[in-house]
Amino acid sequence: MDLRLSEEQEAARETARELAEKKLLARAAKLDADEAFPEEAVRELADLGLLGMMTPESHGGAALDTVGYALSLMEIARADAAVAVTLSVNNLVAETITQWGTDAQRDKYLPLLNTPEGLGAFALTEPGAGSDVKALRCRAARDGDSYVLDGEKTWITSATHAGVFLVMAVTGEKETSAFLVDKGTAGMTVGKPEPKMGQRGSHTCALHFSGCRVPAANLLGKPGEGLKIALSALDAGRIGIASLSVGLIRACLEEMTRYAKERSAFGKPIAEHQAVQWMIADTAVEHEAAEALTLTTAWRRDVGQPFTEKAAMAKLLASEAANRSAYRAVQVFGGYGYSREYRVERLYRDARVLTLYEGTSEIQRLVIARNVLA
Ligand code: CAA
Repeated sequence: MDLRLSEEQEAARETARELAEKKLLARAAKLDADEAFPEEAVRELADLGLLGMMTPESHGGAALDTVGYALSLMEIARADAAVAVTLSVNNLVAETITQWGTDAQRDKYLPLLNTPEGLGAFALTEPGAGSDVKALRCRAARDGDSYVLDGEKTWITSATHAGVFLVMAVTGEKETSAFLVDKGTAGMTVGKPEPKMGQRGSHTCALHFSGCRVPAANLLGKPGEGLKIALSALDAGRIGIASLSVGLIRACLEEMTRYAKERSAFGKPIAEHQAVQWMIADTAVEHEAAEALTLTTAWRRDVGQPFTEKAAMAKLLASEAANRSAYRAVQVFGGYGYSREYRVERLYRDARVLTLYEGTSEIQRLVIARNVLA
């Protein structure tokens, strides 16, 4: 089995690492404190060709594979998880349009999604429909050459800065369809960013649709294919969140290791105490395991193997491990870890949502169990 990376994968990881270490890391604490959207980072990602990382070259993208994408996202998340989730949701929308869009939709939206002005937002969740996607209430009624959308969406990542919204809406009894809604479309209102525990630079808002008229040409896929589109998009998205989690575990490991060597207690650096060594060892093992499962899942996708179950496993393992790692990082820092002055406090808060968005840990277990029991 050959696990060496290709030149393209190495180069993508190196580009992302350089940006993360030279620019993103230094800004992350302030963006978090200010709950400020990382506009500068998004511009830099666009300039480096990382916004359209997996978009075909024909549409101005870098045509990177999933392994290269996962490696890049790990580097970005190591510095700032809020930037990483912005990037991953943009990629999710771009990939979904690449896969399901018409030529006209690809020509219009894919180049836009490579730019800071055209970020993608994925609008599935509603106040009464999170894990249970069949409970959607937002409706789209056909009216001549248009569909008219009415309803609510919630927890929509990047909504304040998005240029295009991929919106799932009910189009008939037991029928859901997917629509591309341009920013500024009359009848769509974007709410204020939610005050969140972590990943505060990523803006997450409600959407309100009231008589929002969308051309029928903006239907993505066929009528009734909305859930299939959304859930297959989330399969790939879960590799992104697993990658993000791996980056965050790495950041915890680095912080713990550095601090354990610097801080002394009972007459020696705490790194020489077995209790601390075990926390570092457990984090190193979980990093290795989560990274390996995430990258093999990405590889499976790249070679065309089924990967739904493995993506759920990678997301479950990596996001739960990220939370355990952040807990240990705070533990190693002791009281200082509880202070906003230290990075591990932010890592702890940033980790929490990883087991919630793009499917809770319980939903991942449900997907895995269904596959195992099938
Ligand atoms: N790929 C393609 N199609 C799929 C699929 C997949 N992985 N999984 C299910 N489907 C299809 C099914 O074939 C079915 O289609 P038909 O009706 O045509 O047969 C349809 O989707 C519904 O599937 P199920 O009957 O299996 O639905 P279910 O209600 O029993 O359960 C579920 C499905 C796995 C629980 C699913 O609802 C799920 O994954 N829920 C979690 C949703 C989620 O992850 N939300 C995250 C919000 S988005 C977000 O967080 C993004 C962000 O901004 C960060």
